Amino acid sequence: MRCSIRKARPDVTGFSAGWLSLREPADHAARSLPLTRAVVGALSTELPCRVLDLAAGTGSNVRYLAGHLPSEQRWLLVDHDPALLAIASRDLRRDRPMCHVDVREWIWLHWHAGCA
Ligand SMILES: C[S@@+](CC[C@H](N)C(=O)[O-])C[C@H]1O[C@@H](n2cnc3c(N)ncnc32)[C@H](O)[C@@H]1O
Repeated sequence: MRCSIRKARPDVTGFSAGWLSLREPADHAARSLPLTRAVVGALSTELPCRVLDLAAGTGSNVRYLAGHLPSEQRWLLVDHDPALLAIASRDLRRDRPMCHVDVREWIWLHWHAGCA
């Protein structure tokens, strides 16, 4: 069995920050407030509230959820596009310093052929 860990590279051109920004208001408007409240209500009361955002892009989930969560928050944003993460880090640290945002480039497990 041969397995290795390597950085993922997007197979396609990826998502542009401009397109993500254009879609964000419609995306937020389409989200279910009852579902958001149910999720927030089911969270542990332990503080800080820790959130792992997979495929985070430029941090849209932080902008949507931060106001629904307890004020003490720690976010870890993961994505395979370092350019989007750089924008997320810059903008969120500037605009939402109370959210304590950290970013990580995605690393995935690559299975070679024959790996069982
Ligand atoms: C439609 S965008 C959504 C971004 C963000 N969650 C939002 O709501 O604006 C999809 C995101 O998934 C990321 N992504 C796609 N495939 C991925 C993979 N295999 N590993 C990590 N990130 C991935 C893209 O880079 C992009 O930021």
